Parts: sequence; structure tokens; C-alpha cells
Amino acid sequence: MEEWMKKVFLALSKNQKLNKWAKKWGLRFGANRVVAGETIEEAIQKVRELNQKGVCCTLDHLGEFVFSEQEAGEAADYCIRTLEAIHVSKVDCNLSLKLTQLGLDIDKNLCLKHMRRILQAAKDRKLFVRIDMEDYAHNQVTLDILRELRRDYLNVGTVIQAYLYKSQEDVRRLGKERVGLRLVKGAYKESGTVAFPNKADVDENFKKLISLHLASGSYTAVATHDDAIIEYTKALQKEKGYSLEQFEFQMLYGIRAATQFELAKQGYRVRVYVPFGNDWYGYFMRRLAERPANVAFVLKSFFRK
Ligand code: FDA
Repeated sequence: MEEWMKKVFLALSKNQKLNKWAKKWGLRFGANRVVAGETIEEAIQKVRELNQKGVCCTLDHLGEFVFSEQEAGEAADYCIRTLEAIHVSKVDCNLSLKLTQLGLDIDKNLCLKHMRRILQAAKDRKLFVRIDMEDYAHNQVTLDILRELRRDYLNVGTVIQAYLYKSQEDVRRLGKERVGLRLVKGAYKESGTVAFPNKADVDENFKKLISLHLASGSYTAVATHDDAIIEYTKALQKEKGYSLEQFEFQMLYGIRAATQFELAKQGYRVRVYVPFGNDWYGYFMRRLAERPANVAFVLKSFFRK
């Protein structure tokens, strides 16, 4: 049953008509539980509140289905506005973004041009930018772009997904190049030819990636809500004597908030991924796909007047 619902929500996340309508509706159906607001001001306020509770953040201005150069340019401008808002408000926060938002599907060079603009703006403000990892079709090109950008900018890193067979090899290479990585299980529907179909194998691979990247001495962000992976990381850090400065835990805004604050209290660095903006629909559907149990709160909010 859960697998069936997962497929439905992942398919819904790609529905462009619903996405268009959702922008007009405003945050609905309980989406405000996992999306921090529609404006930059609302998002910065949420970041400030989270900082006061001992966790740092990364802001993501949501955006999907970018097909025109104008939309890509606007998304890049918005990233720079977000960096400026972080800088001016002095919150403890960096930026996450997706390359398809910046025109990757239109022209790789256009995307590179926007990334350089964003990374220079971030460097001027001493901020870090994380390139989120999208579906497998964009995986290698994202890593190629990262490598090109890192010739001029070191304030950029990316994400590696434990469900992909190729990820151990990628982590070994990126570890040698001292690239800070966010490690995740992986959020997209992928074929068994490129990704582990079984959750147990993904979890095992996740642990291997954490151990490989920490051993390389590179900065490691362990992004998960899974207690077993969190406990594995804590035990590994103690066993190997890694510094608490070498890694952080990351979780999504609105998911397992009590655990986020508890980990921070225990002395671990915790970063919350804070998405905002009117293009909330695809992100919200992917979160429902991860946990169809959350559909209950959607239904409740649907019937609430
Ligand atoms: P898993 O799905 O096994 O869940 C473990 C437990 O966590 C569940 O049993 C439940 O208790 C809780 N939980 C998980 N999801 C929940 C939800 N939606 N609501 C409530 N409880 C939930 N993916 C990607 O492909 N590219 C990327 O760039 C990123 N970026 C990213 C950043 C950050 C900060 C996080 C935390 C995650 C991502 N992801 C991602 C998503 C990631 O790949 C993965 O889909 C989710 O984190 C869910 O996997 P978990 O590791 O949490 O474990």
C-alpha cells in the first residue's frame, strides 16, 4: 500500500498543471508545516527563530519546471536576493539551490553563468552554497558543473544520494578533492539499473558513504531523519575520534523538529533545510511520498474551513 502511494505522490509531484494552480492557491493543504512561507521575509523570520533554538539553516527558494531563459535569470536573481537577506539579517544560514532552476535543461553554459554570479555574491558575503542533487538524469552533469565551478570557487558543495550504485565512487573522488558533501538517501523514483531497489541496501550504502567521507577528512553533512543512521554517525565519530567540527546533521524544516533541537542540545551541529516560495507544490508532494502517513494531516486541512 505504502509503495503504491509513494508512486502516486512522486507522479503527482511532476504534474505541471497542478503546479501552476498551486502557485495561485498559496500555501494549502498543510504545506505550511514543511514550507516556511511564501516570502523571503517570512523565511528569514523562521530562520531567526530556529537559530534561537540552537540550529543553523540553509534556505531554498523553491522553483520547478524552468523552461525559459527569463525564468532561469529570475531564479538566479532571487538566489542573490536571498544571499543578501541572509547577510543583512545576520542569521546563521547558507543557501541551497537546484541547477534546473538556473536553466540546466535549457543550456549548460547559461546555468554555469548564473552559478558563477551566485557564487561570487556568496563569496562577497562569506556564504556557502549547496547544489541539491536532482534525479539521475541530472546527476553527472551536476557533478561536472561542480568540478568546473570549484576551479574558481571553494564556497560550493553538493549532495550525494545513497540509493545510487555510483555514489561510493563519487564520494571517494570528491573526498580526495576535499569537497564538502551532504549525504542523503535519495528522493526520486529511479530505475533498478542505477539505484538500489531495496531500502535495506540504501541504508547500508548510506553508512558506507558517511564512513568514507569522514575518513577522507572532508566536511560531511549527514542529512536524514532516520534514528539508526544518526546513531551510527554518533558512534562512528566517538570510535574514530572525529572532531564535532567535521560534520553536521541536517533535517528538513517541520520534520522531527524535537529531534533537531535535542541533537543541538547534545552539542552536535544541526542545520535545518528551510524551503520557501510560492512554488511549493512539487516539494510538498515529494515529502508526502516519503511518508504517506502524513497524508492524514493533508486530508484534515482539506476539510478544515
Ligand atoms: P527515511 O525515509 O528512511 O525515514 C526515516 C524516518 O524519518 C521515518 O521513519 C520517519 O519517522 C521520519 N521521516 C522521514 N521522512 C519524513 C516525512 N516526510 N515526514 C515525517 N517524518 C519523516 N534528496 C535528494 O534526492 N536530493 C537532495 O538534494 C536532498 N536534499 C536533502 C536535504 C536535507 C536536509 C534532507 C534531510 C533530505 C534531503 N533529501 C534530498 C531527501 C532525502 O533523500 C530523503 O528522501 C529524505 O531525507 C527521507 O529519508 P530519511 O533519510 O529521512 O529516511
